[in-house]
Amino acid sequence: MANQLLKGKKGIIFGALNDQSIAWKTALKCYEEGAELILTNAPIALRMGEINALAEACGNAPVIPADVSNDDDIKKLFTEAMAHFGGPVDFVLHSVGMSLNIRKGFHYTSLNHEFQHKTLDISAMSLHRVCQVAYEMDAMAEWGSIVALTYIAAQRVFPDYNEMADAKALLESITRSFGYHYGKKKKVRINTISQSPTRTTAGSGVKGFDGFISFAEKMSPLGNASAEDCANYCVSLFSDLTRMVTMQNLFHDGGFSFTGVTQEVIEQMEK
Ligand code: NAI
Repeated sequence: MANQLLKGKKGIIFGALNDQSIAWKTALKCYEEGAELILTNAPIALRMGEINALAEACGNAPVIPADVSNDDDIKKLFTEAMAHFGGPVDFVLHSVGMSLNIRKGFHYTSLNHEFQHKTLDISAMSLHRVCQVAYEMDAMAEWGSIVALTYIAAQRVFPDYNEMADAKALLESITRSFGYHYGKKKKVRINTISQSPTRTTAGSGVKGFDGFISFAEKMSPLGNASAEDCANYCVSLFSDLTRMVTMQNLFHDGGFSFTGVTQEVIEQMEK
């Protein structure tokens, strides 16, 4: 199936925790399409060593620990990436999210604001941090592509998505704002993919996830987009076929975002 769409391209993949992770599937697809990769995750997430299997499957890709809320870690990551690649980076996948308030079970109306700071830092400001470090170090190649993952709770209310809705709204705003500046400076494009609910470690942390995922399935003419589908979409955005796409929030959800109601949902309501 591979078409070598990313032949000769070099990329950094953030956030492959286990084989359910969207980042894991994306790394495999990028490698299959001819890319050279560096994998990164928070030091604590690397402790289990699961990522070594992915590194091996991606041509012994180096694994470099980096906490996305730490400037020095991100600088070290880009320094080592450029040394390894012998030049700039063509693409970056930001597939990182974490909500401390969700984890601790705090309702949106009684958040712990220290936790909220941390959530916004890890899940949204981290994209700014990655872009700024790359911008200052001139670490991205011309026409490079940065993609982050988001969810439609940034635009519409999904009560149990809690503070992550605000984090995703900020993430999408940073995408537009930095996309402007990086586009002007070096034709680097920055986009978010707004993905269907997907069974992963982060996804399953959301309260009522089973109901959430089956509602979305019924509300999407094409059904929910899988993690593999998302990986394919990422490949297209890293490729030269999408060079003029930037500053966008791109829905990848089987049509969910533009569907008012479906027959299946009406039938369910009539029961
Ligand atoms: P996942 O749990 O496999 O990935 C989340 C990753 O974030 C993990 O690898 C984790 O180690 C990493 N991370 C957390 N804190 C970090 C830190 N301080 N520094 C570096 N990395 C850190 O789950 P998934 O679903 O693959 O998540 C990837 C992205 O997709 C997230 O942004 C998530 O919000 C987004 N997304 C997920 C959906 C879902 O239903 N699973 C739907 C729409 C978007």
